Amino acid sequence: MSPATHLDVENIRADFPILTRQVNGRPLTYLDNAATSQKPNQVIQSLVDYYERYNSNVHRGVHTLSIEATEAYEDARGKVKRFINAPSTESIIWTRNTSESLNLVAYTWAEANVSAGDEIVTTAMEHHSDIVPWQQLAMRKSATLKIIPETENGRLDMEQAADLITERTKIVATTHMSNVLGTVVDVKALADAAHAVGAVILVDGAQSVPHMPVDVQALNCDFMAFSAHKMLGPTGIGVLYGRPEILEAMPPWMFGGDMILEVSYEDASWNDLPYRFEAGTPNIADAIATGVAVDYLEALGMENVWEHEQKITEYALRRFAELETINLLGPHEIEDKGAVLSFSHDSVHSHDLGTALDQLGIAIRTGHHCAMPLIRSHDIVSAARASFYIYNTEAEVDVLIDGLKETERYFSKAGIA
Ligand SMILES: Cc1ncc(COP(=O)(O)O)c(C=O)c1O
Repeated sequence: MSPATHLDVENIRADFPILTRQVNGRPLTYLDNAATSQKPNQVIQSLVDYYERYNSNVHRGVHTLSIEATEAYEDARGKVKRFINAPSTESIIWTRNTSESLNLVAYTWAEANVSAGDEIVTTAMEHHSDIVPWQQLAMRKSATLKIIPETENGRLDMEQAADLITERTKIVATTHMSNVLGTVVDVKALADAAHAVGAVILVDGAQSVPHMPVDVQALNCDFMAFSAHKMLGPTGIGVLYGRPEILEAMPPWMFGGDMILEVSYEDASWNDLPYRFEAGTPNIADAIATGVAVDYLEALGMENVWEHEQKITEYALRRFAELETINLLGPHEIEDKGAVLSFSHDSVHSHDLGTALDQLGIAIRTGHHCAMPLIRSHDIVSAARASFYIYNTEAEVDVLIDGLKETERYFSKAGIA
C-alpha cells in the first residue's frame, strides 16, 4: 500500500478496540503513549493467529509448523531492518525491550572496550535505562561518566557537547527524543563528534522510532535501541540495531541454545549474527506481531505520522499557554519537539492531577518518568505528562485542557490551588 498523504484519524481509531472503552463513565482519552501505545486489531489478530495456527519453536524443526514460524519470525526481522534502513538483517537483534538492548551493549561492547580512565558521555535528558548501565559500567571499570547539559530553552547544549567529547571518550550514549521534554536531539552531529575521536555512538530510539522516520545509516549511529510496545506492537519485545562490523567483533552476553555453533565440555564457538545474541527460545509471537505493527506504521507513512503529531503538539502548546498555573518543561515551541508535554502545577501535586483527570476518563503519566536526575534539575520531584500518537485528536487536547481547568477549580474550592 502506498502511504496516504495525511492520516485519516477516524479510520485509524476504528482499528483500536480499546479506544471505544469508557473509563469512569467517560470515553477514554488515552494520552500516555510515551509509556506504551495502544494496539490495533491487526497486531492483536497476529498474536491470535500465531497461537491458533502455527505455534512452534523456530530454527529447530523440520516440520511444517516450525518452518512457518521460522519464516514469519525472520520475515518480521526483515521488516524492522527496512523500517530503520539497517544495512542487513544480521544487524537486527531481538531483545525484550529498550532497557535490555542498552544493557546488552553495556555488558558486551563496553565491557570489552572501556577501561580505567576512559570516558563515557551521556546527556541530561536520559531515561534511567540509558543512565544506570553506564554509571554501573563506569564504577566497574573506574571510568568517568560525563553529562551533556540541557540549555535554558530545553535543548541539548551542543557547544558543551563539543567540549565534553574528547580523545578519552569511548562511547556517547544519547536519547534521540526525550521522554520528558519531547526534545529531539541532533544525533547526527553527536555521531560525527563521537566518530571524530574514535568513539562509538549509541542512540536510545525508544521515543523516536515510533514517531518519526528513522534511518540508522543516515544518522550514522553504531547502535540504536527501541521497544515494540511504544510503536503499536506487543510488550516483551525490543530491538537492538548494531553496525554489523561492530557486532561481529562483540563477545556474546547470554549463553545457551541457538547462540552456539559447536559445543564440547571443554569449549564452545558462537553462531553467526544475529543469533549469537539471541540465546534460548525467542519471543516468537511478539516478534511476528512487531512486524505487523511495522506494516501498519509503514502503510500510514512515518512522514505522515510525524506531521500529524507535530500538528497536534503545536495545538497543545497553544492551548497550554492559556493555563497560568501550569509550568511546561522543555521547549515551548514546536521546533525540535515531539509529541510529549510534561508539566507541573504551581500548587497541585502531579499525582493529584493524574487522579483527578482519571475521574474524567483521561489517562496521563505522573511521577519522575524514570528520569529522576532530569526532573530534579527542574527543581521538582514529579511531573504530569501528556503524550500523543496517531489516533489522538485536537478534540482530545481540548478534553485535557478542560479537565485541567476543572481540576484546578476543584482544588481551589478546596483551598489548595
Ligand atoms: C527514552 C526512553 N528510553 C528507554 C525507555 C525504556 O523502555 P522499556 O521500558 O521498553 O525498556 C523508555 C520508556 O519509557 C523511554 O521513554
